[in-house]
Amino acid sequence: MQAAILDAIHNRRSIREFTGEPVRGEQLHEIVTAGIWAPSGLNHQPWRFKLVVEAPTRAALAGQTTYGHVILAAPALIAVYLDGEASYDPVKDHQAAGACIQNMLLAIEALGLGGVWLGQILKNKAQVNQILELPDRFELMAVVAVGHPRHREQRSTRKPLAHFLL
Ligand SMILES: Cc1cc2nc3c(=O)[nH]c(=O)nc-3n(C[C@H](O)[C@H](O)[C@H](O)COP(=O)(O)O)c2cc1C
Repeated sequence: MQAAILDAIHNRRSIREFTGEPVRGEQLHEIVTAGIWAPSGLNHQPWRFKLVVEAPTRAALAGQTTYGHVILAAPALIAVYLDGEASYDPVKDHQAAGACIQNMLLAIEALGLGGVWLGQILKNKAQVNQILELPDRFELMAVVAVGHPRHREQRSTRKPLAHFLL
């Protein structure tokens, strides 16, 4: 089990090209369930999610980011929010959202699907809320695009470990 988690951590790549095959509703629920099992300060669970599979809504969201082509290609989107009215500590709630999103990316990898954390769209988060008909109290953290990878040739790099050790 430990090796499987490490494999997922190391093998996961950001996937931006997808086949047209839909993602099943139960798969989306499994991904979000992995997200909600992330740690959060005081187990506050500040995250909220909007699942988007409808083509017109995806098209509208695509207009809000320079990564619109990724959104259009993905059959499913998970918009991750913090509920401002449920916040107890902004820094810790934002940290928890990051842990939640990473859990979801690892679940996507474990399910044989592909996904990418889209943050550039945050520059238009007010418009995203309008499109998704969500009030201002919900603060967009990211949109995770999910689908079946068109290929698995993505490569990424990291600086050597020594660069980060102080
Ligand atoms: C906070 C954050 C915001 C990101 N925003 C975008 C984005 O808007 N568009 C995109 O294509 N990838 C985005 N990414 C994915 C990164 O580009 C990617 O994780 C990085 O290049 C490393 O590649 P890897 O995920 O394949 O290891 C984002 C990742 C994070 C953590």
